Amino acid sequence: MFYNVAKAYSIEDLRRAAQRRLPRAVFDFFDGGAEDEVTLCDNMAAFRRARLMPEILNDVSRIDTKTIILGAPSALPMAIAPTGAVGFGWRGGDIAIARAAVAAGIPYTLSSTATASIEQIADAAPGRLWFQAYILRNKPFLDKLIARALAADYEALMITVDLPVGGKRERDYRNDFSIPFGFTLKNMLDFGTHPAWLSDIIRYGMPVMENLIGLEAQATSSTAIASSVGRNYDASFNWDSLKKIRDAWPRKLIVKGVLNPLDASRLAYMGCDALVVSNHGGRQLDGAVATFDALPAVVAAVHGRIPVLLDGGVRRGSDVVKALATGAQGVLLGRATLFGAACAGEAGASRALSILKDELVRTMQLCGARSTEEINAKLLFNATEYLERPEQAVKYAAA
Ligand code: FNR
Repeated sequence: MFYNVAKAYSIEDLRRAAQRRLPRAVFDFFDGGAEDEVTLCDNMAAFRRARLMPEILNDVSRIDTKTIILGAPSALPMAIAPTGAVGFGWRGGDIAIARAAVAAGIPYTLSSTATASIEQIADAAPGRLWFQAYILRNKPFLDKLIARALAADYEALMITVDLPVGGKRERDYRNDFSIPFGFTLKNMLDFGTHPAWLSDIIRYGMPVMENLIGLEAQATSSTAIASSVGRNYDASFNWDSLKKIRDAWPRKLIVKGVLNPLDASRLAYMGCDALVVSNHGGRQLDGAVATFDALPAVVAAVHGRIPVLLDGGVRRGSDVVKALATGAQGVLLGRATLFGAACAGEAGASRALSILKDELVRTMQLCGARSTEEINAKLLFNATEYLERPEQAVKYAAA
């Protein structure tokens, strides 16, 4: 029952393979968004609305996808976004994605709610590692997590700021994937009709959110831990609290979940090292602006003081080109590698990265951009510039 990843030609192929392998409740937890999923869909639609304006007759026989992300080299303008509970889709899925990231030469972000610990990832995938922290009300516990990331030599701390409370994800409610996890007749039938997934769970048990063990003394099972996380987000977290984290953390600090240019500007001036334009993949505030639509104003607002990264809806190499052309230093991949891992572990996560790399290279060649530095605003079709100012072309005639 192994999926041949070579037969996946797009991220959508990997998504469908994950859908076939996983119980509906688990697939929907990965795939779904908040409420009407307007923002989830719009993240992808925003990329689709943008059009490229290629340059012709450049020698594109050699393409260089290397770039600098957060002050250090990355083989691709991509990094892995933090995703929790990956082990519910594929046992060891976090390590699988982290190893695929190391092999591809890109940074990997470990989620607070991952099913692998800070130390396990550092041992299994010693590459560029970032640790994502949710703000928990239990401050000593949060401090310990951050100290562990420092001790394990994580390069950066990423604070997610778009989750003061959990989003309303209705697919999860309908599938009884709500918290606490409910073993109802409906989801028992769902599990029973996905034997590949179920046999693993029967053999090894439910995965555990490794970093949150001990968050509540009585929380030992995965379901109890998951439910305790929901109760433990700190909705009172504010600018002063962020400043304290900034002052205490000696390495790079990334803030994830920024859409508003005024917030972006404030972060740039308060000493953050990077920000991620993100709406949590449409899983939090439904109706929030698509990340690609929010990007130009954020880029303008930070005035180049800090790098701007983006996540949400990246499913094609051309999406990466569009984000870079708009001023992002790189993109983070959430579901793309998650779907890959959920259908075939490390081979699937690697396949997701190689599909995106292949598409990126091809798009750069077709656009006439030989390196990531050559990806700029000229590659985006802008009707005002091209349709309303034909005199631009006359310059060449005169030259
Ligand atoms: C996430 N995301 C997320 N973000 C975060 O800061 N901490 C986390 O633990 C998680 N967990 C998580 C689980 C799952 C199943 C998904 C799909 C997403 C959000 C993630 O980091 C990223 O912002 C989005 O996934 C980006 O959108 P795409 O690439 O999935 O469209």
